[in-house]
Amino acid sequence: MPDTWWIALIALAVLAAGLWVWRRYHYPSFWLAIGFPLMAVTIRATWRTVALGCGLTKKRQRFWFTTNARLIASTGIVKVRRRFQRVAVDTKPFMWLPRPTRHGWRVTVHTLEGQIPADYAQAAERIAHSWGVYAVRVSSPRPGRVVLAATMRDPLIRLDHIPASGELLKVTVGRLETGGPWAIDFRTVPHWLNAGATQSGKSNLANALIVGLAPQPVALVGFDLKGGVEFTPYAPRLSALATTRAESVGLLDDLVALMVDRMGVCRTAGARNIWQLPPAVRPVPVVVLVDELAELYLMADKSEKDEIAKTSTALLRAAQLGRAFGIYLFCSGQRIGSDLGPGVTALRAQCSGRICHRVNDPETATMTLGDLDPAALVSARAIPSETPGVAIVASQDGQWYRARSFYVSEQTAEHAATTYEDRAPSWDEITRPGRSSEVSGTNLSEFLTA
Ligand SMILES: Nc1ncnc2c1ncn2[C@@H]1O[C@H](COP(=O)(O)OP(=O)(O)O)[C@@H](O)[C@H]1O
Ligand SMILES: [Mg+2]
Repeated sequence: MPDTWWIALIALAVLAAGLWVWRRYHYPSFWLAIGFPLMAVTIRATWRTVALGCGLTKKRQRFWFTTNARLIASTGIVKVRRRFQRVAVDTKPFMWLPRPTRHGWRVTVHTLEGQIPADYAQAAERIAHSWGVYAVRVSSPRPGRVVLAATMRDPLIRLDHIPASGELLKVTVGRLETGGPWAIDFRTVPHWLNAGATQSGKSNLANALIVGLAPQPVALVGFDLKGGVEFTPYAPRLSALATTRAESVGLLDDLVALMVDRMGVCRTAGARNIWQLPPAVRPVPVVVLVDELAELYLMADKSEKDEIAKTSTALLRAAQLGRAFGIYLFCSGQRIGSDLGPGVTALRAQCSGRICHRVNDPETATMTLGDLDPAALVSARAIPSETPGVAIVASQDGQWYRARSFYVSEQTAEHAATTYEDRAPSWDEITRPGRSSEVSGTNLSEFLTA
């Protein structure tokens, strides 16, 4: 009956085309309805072989029915004897049901005796290849449990627009590999290091911050010692901008004076930080953007030695006390190495937010990410140059993520800077002494832990 065949064939073709269109135009629902259930079945069905292949099983003694082909009679009949006996079997780690995520799935696994999450992290790449997914990330929410989070394809290839930020000092600058938002929130993580080779996307990230912060009631301050090429276009929204060493020394002096002053205000009001002050007297938060950190520390000749020492001390002070007094640092640089002097090492220790874009040398990655999971360093070094804006992000919780910033052109940032020009508090106004200035620099230490 050729007719029925034809109909069946056409129906199949229509179905396939329909599925293709569905997948193409509304991937999230396709994934939930079709892709994920199929994937979940595959994962469960293949977990034993995958675990075995990745070296995640353990031999255990179990009672098992075994079949021994004992006797082969001359007639050719195989006589099989079944026996119940203890044999060594490969046991796989217990796996819960997989759950769908935006870009893949995740599943909790119980570790077997003697296993640690690092064993799974080491096998992550093997697992990813076995299941044909883009990447598997391993985390351990509590002892004895490991969560495998798989992403089906690189979610950082294409990114949409930067959303408007709703919270003070918090900007969603991009997207995490997990599909979640990548937010820089200065109130939880006050200081950030942003490292990367040239063309890796450092300035793009600063642009994203400027666009996000421009409408907010915050003061922005720029340090751009490469002649001001980066930040000068944003000058309308900046309360202060230093483009030479002399200017930066002056500006840092102002910042330290500002902190001492704010400390006095807090002291008088009995507050430990500016956020405990009543809103009416709370001073405006200041976000300090540094374009090339190394420029602040590099010496052209001996005569600059003192200035550099001063700069270094002042910046460190700002980092130590900034959190309490509303001064937040965002330091970008190609190199953030200890070769720039002890000041940089101390500053690095104060910056709990770390962002590592593509880097040329492994040292910079190590310097930036510190002693995180070695997998983070491997991941940082594997960032290809074709995807500027991709970075490894780590903050206080010790977790790290692969993330990508939204593309924010200089024009966009410049446009935001001019649009919100009138929201830039004037530097004179900010630095005008508050009601209390009887505190000297000597009791700064009291606030160091605040
Ligand atoms: N998140 C991103 N998405 C797409 N393109 C980006 C992204 N970040 C940066 N770029 C592009 O990469 C190039 C280099 O970025 P830039 O921020 O100037 O790097 P850097 O400051 O590290 O030298 C820019 O031309 C920019 O268009
Ligand atoms: Mg740049």
